[in-house]
Amino acid sequence: MSLRVIRKDGDEILRKRSKEVKELNEKTIELIKDMKETMNKEGGCGLASPQVGILKRIIIVKPDEEKDEIFTFINPQITKSSEEMIESFEGCLSIPGMSGEVSRPKNITVKAYNEQMVQFEQEYEDFFARIILHEVDHLDGILYKDRCKKGLIKNEDLEKDEK
Ligand code: NI
Repeated sequence: MSLRVIRKDGDEILRKRSKEVKELNEKTIELIKDMKETMNKEGGCGLASPQVGILKRIIIVKPDEEKDEIFTFINPQITKSSEEMIESFEGCLSIPGMSGEVSRPKNITVKAYNEQMVQFEQEYEDFFARIILHEVDHLDGILYKDRCKKGLIKNEDLEKDEK
């Protein structure tokens, strides 16, 4: 296992569309392990493969900070989205130190493959759904700042507001 370098906003690879994963070879398995290690080290709750410079449709999600559990979605597709939307703050390891409010569906259904390349379809809500949508956007070259109508603010200013 090894840590990978997180690509930052401005790097053109973040604007490219990632390719479907056809089979899980050794390289892909190592990539997923490295993504987990890198996300944990950086303190993120989600990471998409293009963020480490590899254009494959793989995302990982850690929905609960208190737990070590990390979920892997290979070739994820959003098959259903609720009409109900929620606006909430997001951040991104590729745009460090910043946050912004994004409106996203409250509930989604996702079809994807797991780390054994077994297909599954499941419903997610709230924060878990938000992270999945944020990471799936990365696979299509979209950054959350593109969806952030009010613009980004510095995390330090956000913390001041909360006090
Ligand atoms: Ni991100």
